[in-house]
This record gives sequence, structure tokens and C-alpha cells, in this order.
Amino acid sequence: MAKDLEIFGITVPALPASEISIASPDLILFPKPIDYPWNRAEAGLRKQAAAIGQQAAAVDLTLEAPPPNVSADFALAIHRLAKPLGKTPGQIAAELAADFNSGPKAPFIKAAAPTQSGYVNFGIDVPSFGNAVLESIEKKRESYGNENLGNGETVVIDCSSPNVAKYMSVGHLRSTVIGESLARIYRAGGYTVIRDNHLGDWGTQFGILGRAKELWGEEVDSEMPNADPVQKLYRLYVKINDEIEKEKAANPEGESALEKEGREWFRRLEQGDPRALELLKLTTKQSLQEFKRVYKLLGSEYEYYLGESFYLPMLPQIIRAMQKKNVATKDEREAVVVEFPEGKNIKNLVIQKSDGASLYSTRDLATLIARTAWFKPDKVLYVVGADQKDYFRQVFGAFDAFVGKDAPVVEHTYFGTVSLPEGKMSTRKGRVVFLEDVLNEAIARAKNKIGETDRDLSDKEIEQISRQIGVGAVIYMDLGQGRTRNIQFDWDQALSLEGNSAPYIQYSHARGKSVLRRAASEKIKIDITRDAVFDLPIEADLVKHLSKFPQAIARTIEANEPSIIAAFTYKAADLFNKFYKEALIIREKDPVRRNSRLRLTSATAQVIKNGLYLLG
Ligand code: ARG
Repeated sequence: MAKDLEIFGITVPALPASEISIASPDLILFPKPIDYPWNRAEAGLRKQAAAIGQQAAAVDLTLEAPPPNVSADFALAIHRLAKPLGKTPGQIAAELAADFNSGPKAPFIKAAAPTQSGYVNFGIDVPSFGNAVLESIEKKRESYGNENLGNGETVVIDCSSPNVAKYMSVGHLRSTVIGESLARIYRAGGYTVIRDNHLGDWGTQFGILGRAKELWGEEVDSEMPNADPVQKLYRLYVKINDEIEKEKAANPEGESALEKEGREWFRRLEQGDPRALELLKLTTKQSLQEFKRVYKLLGSEYEYYLGESFYLPMLPQIIRAMQKKNVATKDEREAVVVEFPEGKNIKNLVIQKSDGASLYSTRDLATLIARTAWFKPDKVLYVVGADQKDYFRQVFGAFDAFVGKDAPVVEHTYFGTVSLPEGKMSTRKGRVVFLEDVLNEAIARAKNKIGETDRDLSDKEIEQISRQIGVGAVIYMDLGQGRTRNIQFDWDQALSLEGNSAPYIQYSHARGKSVLRRAASEKIKIDITRDAVFDLPIEADLVKHLSKFPQAIARTIEANEPSIIAAFTYKAADLFNKFYKEALIIREKDPVRRNSRLRLTSATAQVIKNGLYLLG
């Protein structure tokens, strides 16, 4: 049995067993950094540039991406040398280009080309580079793009985190989808990832629910005998809230009697009344079953489901310790409050109400302290809506004040709102739009579309394909638009086979695979040992794009922004379709060209697949 831990003077309960295995030991075995062809070219060039700049005038020269109208792969701005050397940028560019060209070349880099305006441009040698890229993809396959950026360090991702006894809303969709994608991307970057689903399973709302169940439990059971348990709980929740609103409308001055009863019921819960706790446990179990059905549809999993109530034993200690450290003080109404220095511009955070009750914030502080003790994380990401921005500044501020310099990096990886098209979806069940309904709607629409084309598919195949397309479309609609933006759902665009959509990308992958299948059925063998040629500009563009996948992963991790992978994958699909239109593949007569194009097709399909996997 694992034992309790001590950290910052607080006793943290032992970490329960994880739901699924955390270990991914193979990740840290990658060398660091992996020498992908693009990395090799860039690193070699950067080193040379730095040396030449230092030699010329003790200046660091840095590489830039050339503007789109310049046909080069790297550009070196040398304007900073003009003053110390007393020459025009054009002259310096010419001299430096000559220096580059007389020395040993960086891997895959062609001769340097000076410009009058003061740049030295570099192009990639496509034949050698393209072959190295294909080889790298053919060798690494599923793990092509992976890197060892994290050296096995741990990232905890707080995501999905719905509230028990309620349905998941489309807001939780974003947290679920972004969290899952980041988990996969961090893992690809060499991190150990822990997805911790911080279920909302504590708070006064459970008192209200408990009271509702006492009052109308049987009535609702007989009213909706075939409904699932969460439907019933939700019904009770809506009913009591409606009644409370009515009471308040009838008596705007006074207090709602039901609300008071709910608070009393919650007090019973807080004091450990076994019947109250039993109801909460049952509710959590039932809700979790519902949530897991949605997670299965979405393909997301969690190492832990540690709800707010798990941390209750830590709360009195934390409230005491924070006061002792003078991080928190009692105010005139006996509430315990954390105040922040003027300049920080953070509002006071209440961690204990005047009646002694704990809050969402107290439980979040406990959670963060426990995570620090259990996982010793390098980073903790909170994938939670932008509406909780101020709140997380308060919680992180309080944590920092309490813990000091030993705190891990914590980040509120916030996201914008979702708006659904007007009409059926937004009104069907009243106030909120349920996540499962959105997914089912997407699946139904995908099914309809499949029905429009007459293909020879079995019912089972149709089911499976509509699920992949429908769910994929929803996930991509979310991730593709960018994490921090307020996003709009547009069914036609989500399910379009032409635009920037999941079905378009999935279709491109399927098209690539179908070319490969056709080749196999015509007994055309792909020989990966035979050098590839890249005769058409589109072939060079495509292979260069594929080479930048590792970079896209690294940039996604820097910004916690899966839309970078979405854009990369979309562009790979787009370039592939252009290639498919412009180049003969199977029908190409020249065997060397045909073999090259089949290798490129196979490599592209692999990269698109890896990209779609990282998006979830
Ligand atoms: N249960 C909360 C909600 O539905 C989200 C919790 C987010 N995570 C956290 N550690 N506060 O709004």
C-alpha cells in the first residue's frame, strides 16, 4: 500500500492506482535531439552562420524563414554587419556567400546566393534531402515526428473535468478534445503525460440535488421509467432549480426555502452523514458511466478521475497552514481570504467561507499541492474555459505565495466559447447543449452523406465510417480553429469534402492508401532501397512539407496549440491532392519515377495518419 506524503507541511493522501498504465518508457530512449533531415540542415547552417558572423564583426547572425515570394528555404539577414564593417549590405552579402561556398557545406544545403538587399539565401538540395526525408519516415513510421524534447519529464493535464449529476456540455467538449490532443502531442515530444479528470463532485449544488431526490425521487422514477440514471438526476436538478426560481420570483426579498433546505442537506454531506455520502457516491458512479460513453466515442482516456471530493481531508490543513504562513487571513466576517500585493492586480481569493465551508478554490489548491507531491511535474496545464481566467490567476497566485520557488510551471491553457448554429441543436433540451447530442448529430449527418453516394458497404461498415467521419469532423472543427478563439460550428463546413475539414484530410489519406492498394493488386512492388527522384516542383514541395512535421510538433508544445498540427496536416493533404492531380503515379511509365512517387504517396499517407492521430 502506498503511504501518505508530506509536502509544504501538508499531508497528502496516497495516490490511488491509475485507471490505465502511465508508463511509456520507450519515449526517453530517443537520442536528443533527433537528427531529422530538416533539423540537421538548419542546425548546420545556423552554426556556420554564427561562426561567420562572429569572425566578421563579433555579431550573432540568425536564420529567418524567407518571404513566400523568394524561392529559398533559409535566409540570413546580414544588415547588422553593415555598420561595423562599413560596407553596403549588398557587398557584405556577396562576401559572406563566397565564404559559405568556399567552406564545407551544411547538410543538404546548396550554394549560398547573395541578394542586393542584404540577404544570403540558401536552398535545400532536393534529391539528397528528399531521400533522407523518405527514409526517415519509412524507418520511423508511426513515430515519425516524435522527438525527445521532454526527456521523460511529467506534464499533468487537467482536462474534461465535467460535473457529476449533470451532462457534459459543448464547453466540456473543448476541454476534452484539446486535452486529449495535447496529451498525445506531449507524449510525441518525449514527455510522460498524466491526464487527470478533475470531476466536479462537491459543492452546494449536491445539497440541492440531494434535497430534490428526497422530495421527488420516486415521482421522477415513475415519470420516466426508461430513462438512464443521469437523465433522472438531471431532471431532478432542473426541477428543483425551476422551483427555486419560482420561489424567488414570488418573494424577491426573502430567501428561497428550498435553497435553504439544500444548504442544510449539503451540511449533512460535509459532516459525513452516511446516507448523504451514499447518494453522492452513487451519483458519481452513474455519471461516470455516462461520461465514459462519450469518452469512448471521442477516443479519450484518463489516467485518473480524481474528483474535488477526493481532496477534502487536506482542506483544513491547507486553510490552517496558509494562515500560519500569513498567506491568508481572516476578514471581519470570519471568512479566510488570500490578499495579493497591490501591483499584482489579482482579486482577493476566499478559501473558507464564514460558515466554515470550503470552496472550489480550496479544493483546487489542494489538488495542485497533491499533484506536485505525487507527480513532481515539470508542468501542470489546466485546460479550462477562458471564463475562469481571473479565477486561475487567483489560485496560481495563492499557490505561488504559499509554495514559493519550488512551484512547478502552472498554466491556464484556456479556450474560447463554442457557438452552435441556431435551430434544433440549441433548443432541443432546454438550457444547455449536450455534448453527446452534438456527436450523434454529426454521426447522423455523416451517415446521410454516405447514403447519398451509392457504395457497396455493409451496415456495419457504414456505422463505423459514419462514426469516424462524424466524430472526426467535430474534433477537427474544434481544434482547427485555434484554442483561444471563440469558435463557431458550421455543419456544412465540418463535413465538407472540399474545405479545411477532417473529412477532406481523411479522404486524402484514404486516397493515398487506395493508390497503394491498387499498386499492390497490380503486383507493383515498392523498392525503398532505390533512390527517389523529385522531378516536379510539387514533389519537392510535398517532401519539404513532410520534413517539417517534427518542427510542427515542437511548436505545438511551445504554444500548447494543437491547431498548428491541424494546419500542418491539412496542408499535407492539400499538397498531396495537388501531387495526385499533377503527377502520374501508377500509370507513370518510367519505373524510377513510378517507384519514387509510390514512396512519396506512402510517406505522405503515413504523415497524415500521424497528424490525425495527434489531433485525436
Ligand atoms: N468542473 C469545472 C466546470 O465544469 C471545471 C474544472 C476545471 N478544473 C479545475 N481544476 N478547476 O466548470
